[in-house]
Amino acid sequence: MINFKKLANEYKTPLYIYDLDYMTKQYEELKEAFKGRKSIMAYAVKSNSNLSVVKHFSNLGSGADCVSIGEVRRAFLAGIPAYKIIFSGVGKSDYEIREAIEKDILYINVESEAELSRVELIAKELNKISRISIRVNPNIDPQTHPYISTGLHDNKFGVEIDIAKRMYIKANNSENLDPVGIHFHIGSQLTELKPIYESAEIVSDLVRSLETIKIELKFFDIGGGLGVKYDEEVTINPYDYAQAILGTLKGLDLTIICEPGRFLTANAGYFVTKVLYEKQNAAKRFVVVDGAMNDLLRPSLYSAYHKIQAVTDSTSDKTNADIVGPVCESGDFFAKDYPLPALKHNDLLVVHSVGAYGFGMGSNYNTRGRSAEVAVKDGESRLIRKRETFDDLVALELEFL
Ligand code: LLP
Repeated sequence: MINFKKLANEYKTPLYIYDLDYMTKQYEELKEAFKGRKSIMAYAVKSNSNLSVVKHFSNLGSGADCVSIGEVRRAFLAGIPAYKIIFSGVGKSDYEIREAIEKDILYINVESEAELSRVELIAKELNKISRISIRVNPNIDPQTHPYISTGLHDNKFGVEIDIAKRMYIKANNSENLDPVGIHFHIGSQLTELKPIYESAEIVSDLVRSLETIKIELKFFDIGGGLGVKYDEEVTINPYDYAQAILGTLKGLDLTIICEPGRFLTANAGYFVTKVLYEKQNAAKRFVVVDGAMNDLLRPSLYSAYHKIQAVTDSTSDKTNADIVGPVCESGDFFAKDYPLPALKHNDLLVVHSVGAYGFGMGSNYNTRGRSAEVAVKDGESRLIRKRETFDDLVALELEFL
């Protein structure tokens, strides 16, 4: 068990804490589900991009799914070999494509015809062959929050089947492109297996139809998206997930690429914040804490639920309170109408399940430095990112006058 009080004393608040042993357990479980099949787990760096976390996955043998050249650089810094790095994303700049080709990563996931032409042109300039995969949009409703749904035709991601086919033919005929993979990712925090299975069927049918015209792919990239328990959700069992996907690949000899983010990191992370004040307005009780939406945006942005645990010696009855931060926005809250005992100055609240899309979606809004990050492994804790200071925040600004 993590001793939140001790860590808060040692590293101060607000504070992110990551349990690396939990991440290992999740990684092994997912890897095991695909046992007996060639597969690469390509950790979705965006879910938690702290170098120590990426390095942890690198040590476990993971690859990396990256969505900017910055993430690709992180993956290399963390020691992930080029042949396990994928570069995805709907809007890659020329300089990013160039660097990815120069670094000889496993493949670039291409998301439009226009992008395919850019990759071809840049590869030609470099006198290289760029390995590519195409992100297919299977037009399947993933039944998740609309902001994190990506596999419908009205989402910006990927291309329709017919366009994908045309792109594969073009890539196959190009001297500077090598089509090696196919990719789909229909959304995040998925708790239903059916849409994943249906998407895999559509995409594997496309692989078969490409084989009939002598375009033979090597990698079947199933994206990420496995949901986790924030509250009482019933989640997909990794074994069932793997079986459902593998079932669609009968007769095909493809290496599975999986891009898990949240599944590996979400429930490994805790955000510890200190109570500043209790405040009672006419109609409402507020608990004001020292963390804010700039540290953890998910409740404000998605109305996401995160379990909150009070670390206090208070034994009073619980009553509902809004847990709010110091930022000047009414949307700055971690929970609304949450049952909590009476709290006093310096009591702690621990927000659970924040290891994915927590720190990384933070900002410096209201000139607030981002929290420190600490990792715990084998019962030991270590600072893995210093708390930002005021000097850090103004360091890049230049005088106008
Ligand atoms: N692969 C691709 C192409 C992706 O776009 C994503 C996530 C992943 C893999 C990893 O998905 P995961 O396994 O973590 O579900 N900020 C939102 C989540 C955005 C997800 C974006 N793409 C949130 O806080 O819920």
